Amino acid sequence: MAQAEALLTVRDIHTYYGDSYVLQGLSLALREGQIVAILGRNGMGKTTLIRSVAGLTPPRSGDILLRGEPITGARSYDIARRGVGLVPQGRRIFTSLTVRENLLLPASVLAGGRRGGPDEGPPEWDLDEVLDQFPQLKARINNLGGALSGGEQQMLAIGRALMRNPDLILMDEPSEGLSPRLVEQVGDIMTTLKKRNHAILLVEQNIGMALAIADYVYVLSVGKFVFEGPPSELTANAEVIDRHLGVTGSEQVA
Ligand SMILES: Nc1ncnc2c1ncn2[C@@H]1O[C@H](COP(=O)(O)OP(=O)(O)OP(=O)(O)O)[C@@H](O)[C@H]1O
Ligand SMILES: [Mg+2]
Repeated sequence: MAQAEALLTVRDIHTYYGDSYVLQGLSLALREGQIVAILGRNGMGKTTLIRSVAGLTPPRSGDILLRGEPITGARSYDIARRGVGLVPQGRRIFTSLTVRENLLLPASVLAGGRRGGPDEGPPEWDLDEVLDQFPQLKARINNLGGALSGGEQQMLAIGRALMRNPDLILMDEPSEGLSPRLVEQVGDIMTTLKKRNHAILLVEQNIGMALAIADYVYVLSVGKFVFEGPPSELTANAEVIDRHLGVTGSEQVA
């Protein structure tokens, strides 16, 4: 059954920057429509994991499979075309293009993503639907990306990824630098995306938000997973929280 097959499988990957050995044997699995959260303090390798999956910093060994097919070593644009969207850390929208251009450009340059059709689930995202989802963007459609607030830029980064109709969305700290109200909105958006059968690999330092929406959680520490399980198991594990997620971690969970 397609339901049971993993959408993304990461098997024992080892990723380096030159001689610097960062990811030291990570394995994980993510099914269609699932939200899997990766938690960990600064510098533990969260972004490197996202970059490994996206093909930006390919692992030196190990396997990455999309719907059972190997994508290890594939070019990043090829991985994107096969249905993997990226919402990078720090948004990285085009500041000198308008909101409309930001949304339309990647979709037109890089066709691909989810195939439409009767068995392919909900309809694809288009400009109207993205703007309905993000009223803040609709109101600022002709403004430059650089003129948006941090929250609006985050919505734009998510909207831009959706325009390619990805099956899997890689989100790198989408709540970083946002007010609690906006963090809540980002969490709500992810829940909406999950309902529309998008899978999300979510990297976060906002533990409370991640645990509220994730189906499964991994804790990353110095390039290795030191915990994996459902959110309730992590909430009950004060030792892992204090040791690997820090004092702020237990405060956020409480
Ligand atoms: N381009 C690079 N070249 C060399 N080392 C790097 C590079 N990018 C990251 N690193 C190192 O790899 C390790 C993991 O970095 P990474 O960015 O994956 O951490 P992170 O968990 O995403 O941190 P943060 O929460 O601060 O975003 C760190 O020690 C970092 O200094
Ligand atoms: Mg990072």
